[in-house]
Amino acid sequence: MESLTSKIWLWVLTAALFISALAQDDPETPTAFRKGQKWQIILLGTPDMTKMPLPPTDAEVWDLDLFDNDASTFQTLKAAGKTVICYFSAGTWEDWRDDAKDFPSADLGKVLPLWPNEKWLRTGSAKVRDIMSKRIKLASDKGCDAIDPDNTDGYQNDNGLSLKNTDAIDYMQWLQKTAASYSMKVGLKNSLDILPQVSTIVDFAVNEQCGAPEYNECSSYSAFLASGKPVFHIEYPPSLNSSLGNTTYCKGAGTDGMSTILKDLTLDGRTFYCDGSQADTPTKGGTRPTPSRGPSPPRTTTRWSTPPTPPRTSSSRPIVTPPRTTLRPSSTPARPSSAQPTSTPGGGGGGGGGCKSKHWDQCGGNNWKGCTVCESPYTCKGVSAPYYYQCL
Ligand SMILES: *[C@@H]1O[C@H](CO)[C@@H](O)[C@H](O)[C@H]1NC(C)=O
Ligand SMILES: *[C@@H]1O[C@H](CO)[C@@H](O)[C@H](O)[C@H]1NC(C)=O
Repeated sequence: MESLTSKIWLWVLTAALFISALAQDDPETPTAFRKGQKWQIILLGTPDMTKMPLPPTDAEVWDLDLFDNDASTFQTLKAAGKTVICYFSAGTWEDWRDDAKDFPSADLGKVLPLWPNEKWLRTGSAKVRDIMSKRIKLASDKGCDAIDPDNTDGYQNDNGLSLKNTDAIDYMQWLQKTAASYSMKVGLKNSLDILPQVSTIVDFAVNEQCGAPEYNECSSYSAFLASGKPVFHIEYPPSLNSSLGNTTYCKGAGTDGMSTILKDLTLDGRTFYCDGSQADTPTKGGTRPTPSRGPSPPRTTTRWSTPPTPPRTSSSRPIVTPPRTTLRPSSTPARPSSAQPTSTPGGGGGGGGGCKSKHWDQCGGNNWKGCTVCESPYTCKGVSAPYYYQCL
């Protein structure tokens, strides 16, 4: 009798384990996000679906622009077992989007210094949320499994709308609820200091540069990773190659368990991983509006309320940190290979005296009077040409 009872229990237990294993491995439900998943992100151009299967074929999660890609791209990737995250800016107004005219001017804040085509948004506005709920519906209609709403960190910037971190928490809660009404997941982009407040409602995080030597803040994700959720982590090393696997970008404090990817700032199809492997996803297009003629961004702007101390020791020079917000293709002017600025970008007349700008410093742009040559091995790149050039 006792043996029969235990057999029944054993059977029940086995069945339960089997069912739960099925639920996790079911190829029909690949939307389960898991710590350490391999991924790819492309925001410049769109994956060339005629070249399926696309490298890296073992990347389970693909983060792609909601507007630039057709529904067929998302569906084809999903049919191949991939999880598709759709990227859009939730916290800035972008002047080239089809729905740009729908935003009331009263809901627009300051221009983003590095992105003259964008302004911070009053994220609590009913009208803004109405527009964003249409975008979220579009993501659902196109078949996205999840959304990657960018620029939720206006509160860390000079936004002109008095946005606070409580606004960002409220907005994330609203984004999550709206996405969930279409059975989509949501991730937290950067915005590290609201992670504790939203970690239970987001299914993943997307981070830029937490492992860069000057930030070194990946450890802030340790509890999040311990809960089994993935951190899709992007680093922008000054040059991309296969020997970055043992650097702090890949091995720095807190990076263990992260889904780290090494990319060029343009976020094109080229990618390195920490195991030294490289993938060149074939892409098409990369069309984007030319930047509006905005003012030259102020040199000293940082995108952090409390930027970590950079390793640089000397210097009274203002610290210009790299853009934290994903460099969207739309605001990234095409960089014709022949026209890559290397010595005397922008106006300005150039710094004279043979001086050299350090890594991350400005090195050109309209009215720029400082050094226009970068210290080795960095080159002066137009991150928002013709307004702003930086040693990268
Ligand atoms: C690889 O990239 C790193 C960081 O960008 C750089 O320091 C290093 O010199 C590069 N190595 C080679 C062999 O190009
Ligand atoms: C990292 O270092 C180990 C041990 O020295 C080496 O075997 C491995 O190839 C290195 N990885 C990369 C990506 O360079």
